[in-house]
Parts: sequence; C-alpha cells; structure tokens
Amino acid sequence: MAKAKTTFYCQNCGANSAKWVGKCPACGEWNTYVEEIVTKGSSTEKEVWEDASAPRNQPRKIQDVVYDEHQRIKTPTGELNRTLGGGIVPGSLVLIGGEPGIGKSTLLLQMAIRMKTTKVLYASGEESLDQIRMRAERIGIQAENCFLLAETSLANILNHAAQLKPEILIIDSIQTLHTETIEASVGSISQVRECAGKLMKYAKQTNVPVFLIGHVNKDGAIAGPKVLEHMVDTVLQFEGDRHLSYRILRTSKNRFGSTSEIGIYEMRETGLREVTNPSEVLISPRDGFLSGVGIGATLEGNRPLLIEVQALVSPATYGTPQRSTTGFDGKRLNMLLAVLEKRLGIRLSAQDIFLNLAGGIKVNDPALDLTICAAVFSSFDDIAIPSSICFAAEVGLGGEIRAVNRIESRITEAAKLGFKQIYLSKYNVKGIDTSKFDIEVKAFTRLSEAFEVLF
Ligand code: TYD
Ligand code: MG
Repeated sequence: MAKAKTTFYCQNCGANSAKWVGKCPACGEWNTYVEEIVTKGSSTEKEVWEDASAPRNQPRKIQDVVYDEHQRIKTPTGELNRTLGGGIVPGSLVLIGGEPGIGKSTLLLQMAIRMKTTKVLYASGEESLDQIRMRAERIGIQAENCFLLAETSLANILNHAAQLKPEILIIDSIQTLHTETIEASVGSISQVRECAGKLMKYAKQTNVPVFLIGHVNKDGAIAGPKVLEHMVDTVLQFEGDRHLSYRILRTSKNRFGSTSEIGIYEMRETGLREVTNPSEVLISPRDGFLSGVGIGATLEGNRPLLIEVQALVSPATYGTPQRSTTGFDGKRLNMLLAVLEKRLGIRLSAQDIFLNLAGGIKVNDPALDLTICAAVFSSFDDIAIPSSICFAAEVGLGGEIRAVNRIESRITEAAKLGFKQIYLSKYNVKGIDTSKFDIEVKAFTRLSEAFEVLF
C-alpha cells in the first residue's frame, strides 16, 4: 500500500508546510500546525448531479450574456435580501459566520421555513430532526416545501440533493461535514476545505445556491480556514452580544453586491425579528435628569444609526483607576480621555470610567468621538446633556473637531428622529446648505468651543 501523504496545516489560517513548524509564518500564531493526511482515496462520491451528456460551457461574447436581476431569489426578510445585495443569486455559495449561540441556525432555519413555495433542503450535522422541528415550531412554520436532513456525510447530502433537487441547500455547519475522499479528521482544515470545494462545484454546476454555516474562533475569524473566505462568493458575519438581544448581519465579502450593507435583528422567543428602524430601539426614552448619556449619529455600513452612549465617571477607590468599555474600542477611549485631560484640563486620572453602548452593538466609527467626550464630561461634572441634542464628529489629538464622512445622511437621520440640534465639525458643513435640514446644525472647530456651548 502506498504510504499516506501528509501535510501540516495551520489550524488558524490554513497555510501549509511539509514540516512541522512552531510559529506559523503566514499568520504568526504559535502551535497551530497539525498533521493531516491528504492522500486522495478512490472517489466513492459519485457526483450525480453531473450529467455527462450535458453540454459543456462554451465561451460566449460578453454582449450575448444575458443577466437578469429578477433571477435573484427573494428571501422573506428584507434585511437578509439587502445584505446579500438584493436577494440570493442562483448558484452562489454563501458563508454565514458567527460565534456559537449567536443565532446562525435560527437565521437560516427561519429563512427556510418562511419560504412559502421554494424547495429548501436544510442539512444539519449539529442537531437532530426533532430538535430542529421544535425550534421551527417556535418560529412558526409557513413552508410547504422545506426538507430537513440530519447528516454529516457530504456524499449522502449530495446524493439526497441530487434526488430531491432543492432550490436552496443549507449546510449547518461546514465544520461538522466530512468527506471520505480525504482522511483528515472532521472539522480540520483539509476536511472543511475539501467539503466546501465540493459544495462549490455543486452550486456552480446545478445553479442551486448553497448556504454554509461556519463557526468563528476567538478572534472573530471564520474558524480555521481563511481559505474558506476566498472560496465562497459571499461572506456574512453575524455578530452581537449573545446575552443581549440585538444582532447585526454584516456583509464582509460579496461578489454580487456591496460590502457596506448591514441587517439588524432582534432575537426574540419566536425567532429573529428584523429591526427596520434601529435608531428608535437603540435610544431608550429618557425622562428627567440623567448625566453621562449622549446620542451619536454613527454609520453602520450604509445605514445611519443613532446610538446611545452611556458613561459613568466616579472617583477610583483602588490604586489604578479602571477603564472599561462595552461595544467600543478601549484604546480609542483612552486616547479621548488623554485629549480631555491635556487639552481641556479635566482631571480624569483618578477616576474610574465605564463606557457602554446601548443594545450590545459594536461601533468603530470615529464619528462617535465627540459623543463619548461629551458623555464622559457630562458624567464627570454631573450635568445632563439635553435629550434633544446629538453629535457626529471625530476628535483629534489636538482637541480639534474633525469632519466625518456622509454627514448629510447622519443629519437627515437625526432630524427624522426628532432631534433639535446636532453638533459637528465646521469643516463638515462647508458647501452644505444646513438650512434645508429640519434640525439646527451647530458647527465647531475645537472641543473647548463645543463644550462651552453645551455645558
Ligand atoms: P442558534 O441559532 O442555535 O445559534 P448558532 O447556530 O449561531 O449557534 O441560536 C442560539 C440562541 O438563540 C439560543 O441561545 C436560544 C436563542 N433563541 C431565542 O432566543 N429565540 C428563538 O426563537 C430561538 C430559535 C433561539
Ligand atoms: Mg447552530
């Protein structure tokens, strides 16, 4: 018998090497190389969907290629359609990544059971049929043509798919699949890559769109194989804090649409509900005096989103003061605190500072800077910011207020939600007729000027 051929694969990024190495030269991680057997066995998986007599693809003139936007399959949720670039493209391979428990299975099962007439095959290697059925009951079954299959063998799934001829195939999850053509263990890089490759072939040859669920590792990358991200047409990331109810579906790669789209969902007892007006749910109604709260007009993808920032500044009881943030970069907070301290002389070094973005949403839009500075000072001095004011500006190291992108959509959103004033950078309003907005625009060049007017 021929000696099995093995290769070492980095379980983090998928790089390979003939020899074991301690530190991956590609991604820099330590101790991630694992030996995997890659010998190809005789192929027992007949690719049944391949019809030998079918005509092979021929080169065609670009003018003769007909493209029809209506070919896209519309899902029942507008949020999902939007993140996919306007619906599911036939023959596309879509990867949905996210931490365990975030709601990936729920999202796709919900799509499957709400597609009224479309024939969907939902193959799960993670849950049994009755578990899936139980979950589907809670969400509410509307479909007449949704098939469930509890299976981990790719060959079996593809055989069933060949007979059933579904219009959409869902795989939950790619890490549980295995193919017999290679011997590497389930969930390893080689298995995942091989299975994804076969599903890719299936999707392209049958024109059936395939959805893959993929778990992500601790760093938020799709577990193990970066290679997977290169292979698929579309990568959607499902994120959010699993203890809080809001979830964001973000497009991080899309061959058929823009990558700046997001969808917002709320996890309920009865499945995921789409949130069509996120700003309204992210800002809690405030009555009376509350210091440390500020509203920022941020941008998530293409969508303007008003987010509530809460800051709490209180004297530190132990030696080193604490700095803690939820939903915002801690380093950026430290930078803004240093600006407040150095440029405005606000003594924060002996204070514990906690910062929280409402709804479990993560934001790294610099336009939130001014809101954060205002919220921190508001809590420090115990002066409330009027609830009719919001902010949209970056703060520079010199204490200057800098312009942010797409200011007009931010102002429009703030006006739509009934805010009376928006604070922004003077450089942002050049060439914009601010009187056309139904909100008062207050423009500044320095943080100190803005604070003088505000507090
Ligand atoms: P799940 O889709 O299983 O997550 P994933 O596939 O990403 O691992 O969803 C997990 C969580 O969602 C689980 O903790 C229960 C919760 N959930 C609800 O709150 N409401 C529901 O209707 C459903 C189906 C799940
Ligand atoms: Mg799941």
